[in-house]
Amino acid sequence: MSDYDTIICRCEDITLGEIREQIAQGKHTLEEIKRACRTGMGPCQGRTCAPLIASEIAKAIGQSVADIPLPTVRPSTGPIKMAALLGGKGHD
Ligand code: FES
Repeated sequence: MSDYDTIICRCEDITLGEIREQIAQGKHTLEEIKRACRTGMGPCQGRTCAPLIASEIAKAIGQSVADIPLPTVRPSTGPIKMAALLGGKGHD
């Protein structure tokens, strides 16, 4: 198995090769790569893959990982009132 086939985003089955292709096409932020191939959109929300992808971007463009901005995080759930859980009043 080559580096190309190494899974970087386990949630979405995205390989290192696919990430490198995106970087070679000019996508140099986590957000751009996320929009192109769904990295960071799995159940872990990028906790596993984002640091690895940021490292690849930084290596490719000669910057520090700290200079790679984090993607926008949108939680898949929102707060609800306890009354809604219990079936009482206050349920919207
Ligand atoms: S490993 Fe990429 S979203 Fe979970």
